[in-house]
Amino acid sequence: MKTLWLASASSVLIAGSLFLPVQAQPFGQSPGDVKQQTREIVFRTQVKPIFDKSCISCHGAARQRGGLRLDTVDGIKKGGESGMLFVAGKAKDSRLIHSINGTNGMTKMPMVGDELKPAQKKILEDWINQGAKF
Ligand code: HEC
Repeated sequence: MKTLWLASASSVLIAGSLFLPVQAQPFGQSPGDVKQQTREIVFRTQVKPIFDKSCISCHGAARQRGGLRLDTVDGIKKGGESGMLFVAGKAKDSRLIHSINGTNGMTKMPMVGDELKPAQKKILEDWINQGAKF
């Protein structure tokens, strides 16, 4: 009787150690999920710094060229004197993206200073395509 108990106890231990590597992975998350999560654009830490550095000298509290403010959520949602900046999910058709590329007849922005880097343009495009969340 005593031997039998020992045997079953050790088989529980073995079974437990076999399952350990599986449990080390967080439940419900594959490595692919993790990658997608980190790619989601965060307005405050990724989009806002681009506007702050390259745009608000002309589209901020002091000046609103083209009737546009990019220093407030309301301003970004409202757009400029020619209309809204984007429809969530449609970056390629948006005036914001046309403005930073100088396409579709829009003056290339920033009007003065360095053109946005490809990585910065991609952040703005991804942000709109992901639903333009604030
Ligand atoms: C040196 C000043 C200056 C800077 C910096 C600047 N802009 Fe502009 N922006 C203007 C002027 C002036 C206009 C209005 C004339 C025009 O549309 O050609 C304008 C117009 C716009 C419009 C069109 C608004 C409308 O509805 O008519 C958008 C969109 C825009 N800017 C986006 C940006 C973005 C995005 C940045 C930063 C990446 C930026 N601008 C930086 C001067 C600037």
